[in-house]
Parts: sequence; structure tokens; C-alpha cells
Amino acid sequence: MIDAPAPPGARVVQPARRLRGQLRVPGDKSITHRGLLLGAQANGRTRLRNPGLGADTRASAALVRALGAEVSIDDDELRITGLGLHGLREPADVLDCANSGTTMRLASGLLAGRRLHAVLTGDASLRSRPMDRIVRPLRALGARIDGRANGAYAPLAIAPSTLHGAELDIPVASAQVKSAIILAALRAGGPTVLRQPAPSRDHTERILRAQGAELHTNGGEIRCEPAADLQALDLDVPGDISSAAFWIAAAVLHPNAEITIRNVGLNPLRTGLLDALQSMGADIQTHIDTTEPEPSGTVIARSSDLRAINAGGHLIPRLIDEASLLALLATRAPGESRIADAAELRVKESDRLHTTERALSALGLELEAQPDGFIIAGGARAGGGTVDAAGDHRIAMLAAVAAVSGTGPVTIRGARAVDVSYPTFWDDLARLAE
Ligand code: S3P
Repeated sequence: MIDAPAPPGARVVQPARRLRGQLRVPGDKSITHRGLLLGAQANGRTRLRNPGLGADTRASAALVRALGAEVSIDDDELRITGLGLHGLREPADVLDCANSGTTMRLASGLLAGRRLHAVLTGDASLRSRPMDRIVRPLRALGARIDGRANGAYAPLAIAPSTLHGAELDIPVASAQVKSAIILAALRAGGPTVLRQPAPSRDHTERILRAQGAELHTNGGEIRCEPAADLQALDLDVPGDISSAAFWIAAAVLHPNAEITIRNVGLNPLRTGLLDALQSMGADIQTHIDTTEPEPSGTVIARSSDLRAINAGGHLIPRLIDEASLLALLATRAPGESRIADAAELRVKESDRLHTTERALSALGLELEAQPDGFIIAGGARAGGGTVDAAGDHRIAMLAAVAAVSGTGPVTIRGARAVDVSYPTFWDDLARLAE
């Protein structure tokens, strides 16, 4: 239940008596971004059914329009009229990626090595996030790309150039970096081989293969052949597991809960939180209904008694956007839990190791941020308090989950941050909470 009186821009979320119901969450944000950017350089019209339409994906839609592709948006379908692999036009103005790292990093790969000049910028958070991770490999392919501090930060400026293939080792397990390189490599003069330290979400590879591109994956290595052209696609976008994760966590944490989420994406490179919860003893069932082009199905989550967890290694990229939720879940499990190998959280929409520690500590929970993770003292339930979302959509929703499954009202400052990925979050919360 949600009470009305709250300071401007804030919301008060009350503990729920019961959490119950069925829902579908908005379409997957990562897949929607890719559908837009890859559809813009396909031949013909791409259709995305059930797209995720938050501020982030709307930034990708605006960017693609500024490059000359037609985009029409209605509630359950996005249509993109592609211009072909070499047909994108020089934008007349600076491209604003807003809060979206995916837009900026993937668009850099999309635009590098063309006969055009483009400048990419974003909000204060995005302009403080590392861009050298894409600038360096794109330069190694022959791109002319620069930014503040020798390409470390946006705004980024891309100049006309031609690309050649290369062998590249990417130091971080990042789907955004991998995708930026692949998007450029499609237009290079020869094959590109890239090696990643751990597998990350593979939506780019799946969509490109469906478009007819030649990509070969072998362990941590991906070989990308130059493409002649790319086919337009009809794509059913599954619900976003990273949005569903908030309700899964809320159900597991609440003593009287059962929530069913249908048509949710279950790509194995995105389901790390479900695996972590299973090893913690949570009462969760999943059914896969479809496997192509992306696995999707139903998740049922119920009130659970949890065991402590030690999470790290290759699990982390598979739950990177759910790591703050895992920390909250671990505060309930008796004993000490640890999350390691998650230094990437420092460079998300906020420094999430810091903002998660601050948010959960404000509700009386005990956890300590480490350089690359958390140490969590378990066996507690969140109390009431005030949490600042710090401009980070996932911190705002984390606080709401702690509140509905906790013992006291939580005031969430900057609650509108949820619009970045899940604009209907508060409506869904009101439907599920009694
Ligand atoms: C995303 C990849 C992840 C994730 C982000 C979306 C994507 O970032 O945190 O929310 O769509 O490729 P990294 O790949 O940089 O870890």
C-alpha cells in the first residue's frame, strides 16, 4: 500500500500485509535497445512487439530517428524502417543518450567507421561513467573517436574513418563493450576476434545471427565476419528479468507472498539471481515456454526461508543489475553472506556498492561495501526510514522492495528515477501489495 503525503519527488511505501498476484513486466530493456539500433541498419521494416519503453530506450529511439531511420511507437509495438548497413545519415545535432549507458556505448560502435561526424552526450551520471572501455577497442579497429580526458568520458566525438579487423582482448565482462565492438566489426575490412574474461548477456549476438550476420562463439572468444547487409526482424520482446527481479525478491522476502510473472525473459546469461536464490533455498519455480530467439517463460516466487550465500566469479555478470537485490536478500538469511568480483557496480548509474550500502543501512540493515562487493550480516528485516535514490532507478526500486517486505514505512526521495527502466513500477506495486 502507498500513502499519499510525501515531500515533492518522494514516495512513501508502507509494508504490505500480503503480496499476491500475477503480472507481466515491461519488455526487456537490453533487447529493445538492440532492436532499435540494429533495426535502423537493417533492410526493411523491423517490428518489436512488447518493447520496453522507459526513458533509456526512448533515448535510443530518438537517436535512431536523428540518424534518419523512421520509428513509430505505440504501446505494444515499435516499428523501425531501416536504412541498410551503410545508410545511416549524419545527425544534424548532438545525440543525447540521457541516462543510458547502453545507448551511448552501442551507438558509438554503430557510428564508428562511417562517413559521418557525430557527438554523443548524456546526463551528469552518464558523463561520469567510463568510456575508455569502448574508445580504446574502437580505435584499435581504426575508428576516429575522442572524448574528454583523451576519450575517458563523454561527450564523445566520432569522425569519419574506415575500419579494419583486429584481435582484441576486452578486460571487463561487459555486454555493452562487446556489443560496441561487434557493431563496428560488421563494417570492418576483415574479421574481428574478441576475447572476454567471462560471458556476458548475448542479446546482440542472438539478434545479429537472426539478421543473417556471421558470428562464431567459442568459449570466451567471438569471431565476427564483416556483413554485406542485415535483414529486418519481427521480434517478440520478453518481459525484462531485471524488472521482474524486484517482485521475485519482494515475494521471497515477504512472510505472506506468492507472485507469478508471465512471459519473462529467461536467457541463461541473465538468470544469475534465480540461481543464487535457488542456492539460498528460496521457493521459486520457473517454466520455459519458448527458446527462440530468446528463452522466456513463467516465474513463481513465494515466501521463503533463506540461507546465506557466497557469490562471485562468473555468476556476477549474470546478475549484474540484480546485485543490490541480492545484497538485500542476504540481509534476511541468518549468518554472514559475501558478494565479490562485483567492482563493476562502482560504474553503474550510481556507484551501486556505495548507494546500496547507504540505502539499506538507512533501513537498519547491516552490510559493508568492499572494494568489489559486500559483506552482509543476515537474519534481519528492513525497518522504516528515508532512502535517497541517488538518481538511480534500481536503488529507488530496491528501497520499495525493502519497504513492502519490511516492518516500517520508507520514504524514497527521487522516486521518479524508476521511469528510466520501469515507468509502471508504482502501479504494479499498488496491484500486488495489500
Ligand atoms: C547492458 C549491460 C550491462 C547492464 C546494463 C545493460 C546491456 O552493462 O548493467 O544495465 O544492455 O548491454 P555492462 O555490460 O557494461 O556490464
